[in-house]
Amino acid sequence: MHTLITVLYIIAFALFIYGLMGLTGPRTAVRGNKIAAVGMAIAVIATLLQPGISNWWLIAGAVVIGVLLGIPSARQVKMTAMPQMVALFNGLGGGAVALIAWVEFRDSAGYLDRPLYFVIASLFAAVVGSISFWGSLVAFGKLQEILPGKPVSAGKLQQPLNILVILLTLACAVIVAIGASRTEWLIVGVLVFAAVLGLLVVFPIGGADMPVVISLLNAFTGLSAAAMGLALENTAMIVAGMIVGASGSILTDQMAKAMNRSIPAIVAGGFGGGAAVASASSTDAGEKTVRSTSASDAAIQLAYAGQVIVVPGYGMAVAQAQHAVKDMAKLLEDKGVSVNYAIHPVAGRMPGHMNVLLAEADVPYDQLKEMDDINGEFSRTDVTLVIGANDVTNPAARTDPGSPIHGMPILNVDESRSVIVLKRSMSAGFAGIENELYHNPKTAMLFGDAKSSVNEVIEELKAL
Ligand code: TAP
Repeated sequence: MHTLITVLYIIAFALFIYGLMGLTGPRTAVRGNKIAAVGMAIAVIATLLQPGISNWWLIAGAVVIGVLLGIPSARQVKMTAMPQMVALFNGLGGGAVALIAWVEFRDSAGYLDRPLYFVIASLFAAVVGSISFWGSLVAFGKLQEILPGKPVSAGKLQQPLNILVILLTLACAVIVAIGASRTEWLIVGVLVFAAVLGLLVVFPIGGADMPVVISLLNAFTGLSAAAMGLALENTAMIVAGMIVGASGSILTDQMAKAMNRSIPAIVAGGFGGGAAVASASSTDAGEKTVRSTSASDAAIQLAYAGQVIVVPGYGMAVAQAQHAVKDMAKLLEDKGVSVNYAIHPVAGRMPGHMNVLLAEADVPYDQLKEMDDINGEFSRTDVTLVIGANDVTNPAARTDPGSPIHGMPILNVDESRSVIVLKRSMSAGFAGIENELYHNPKTAMLFGDAKSSVNEVIEELKAL
């Protein structure tokens, strides 16, 4: 049986890695996901074959509940709600690991007679898993707009509070580790203080930093699972946990770099809240003018342009306007206009969101330009068409040191000769701040749902 389990695990790991390779491109991503899911099913079967497994009815009940909740929610989730879904599922993984650490504590009467490596790995898993679970719940609440999306912090008390809770968590963990006391309240203390830490760390983060936090929590879940796997000597948990931990860490690092942020600064809540509120409230939108345009004027401007850059954002995803955008671009190209798409690394609500949507609409890959490659082009562009993008085009990131997004690289849309922005209102984007671009004399606003507006532009282009 031992050999069979080992063989099944090896097959599962190979499928994880092969599946992960598929996730590197939109064309192979769905297949990659399915392959990795088969790998996970094999790993679960191998684990259930382990000797000493009992409570079959409990396991079956848990599987049924998981299937009944998981499959419909994953099937019904809208593309735009995917990040909060990922945050929730990921958080549940961390919570499960934290509970395993608690169960192990109970099973061994406070880790009695367990080797030190077991105790340390379990406590690490309890702390990091609990932080990940509660932090992910807050991230889910913020993205789902159940909780305020803006940073919520205790002001000057935030850092001392964080330090106090870290010390309390460590104190409980150290007492358990050295075996000074084996009362169950200590492991509950570890879990509860780590939970408070998760809340304290994620509540003050908001606006443009949420993507980095979600992938950081993802990495935390992976690391906690790997640590618990070390304690339990379960290879599947170690390998799967390390894959999640390593890929989550790389993604966090890449996203933080793309946002020009430092991970410790984001986690410490060293920026965001206060500045965001100050900046938003200090701007007096009432005194500034906004120029609106019509679909027919937009169509004329676009049709007579030499070069057009389309800047897609979250609003394009909400409106599901990608197919209409592709059709519009085709009409423009038929009229001899050069069309490219500028892709900001955090446009939308998940990494690669715009690439996925535009790939779905069969927009040729060579027209999708990364931020660094296209930023130099805006000054040579006749019309930039911003479709439901906001924060990623906000010049305050360059010009306003008081802005919460200051320092974040943006698409230099304001450098183009003229700008047309498609959105429904003057509402702020995810970061909750005003966008000076909309008051720029070069900018015209085409108000309405992005898909309807693009379709109207298409009709006008056909009529020209
Ligand atoms: P946002 O700044 O969020 O702006 C989206 C804009 O789309 C809104 O201002 C909204 O204005 C408009 N909109 C919504 N529905 C629309 C519709 N049906 N038709 C037309 N417009 C619509 O988007 P962005 O520029 O893509 O920036 C992304 C933001 O999300 C960044 O702050 C980023 O940090 C954050 N974020 C990103 C991720 C990842 S990994 N990509 C994850 C979490 C958070 P109206 O309401 O006026 O229409």
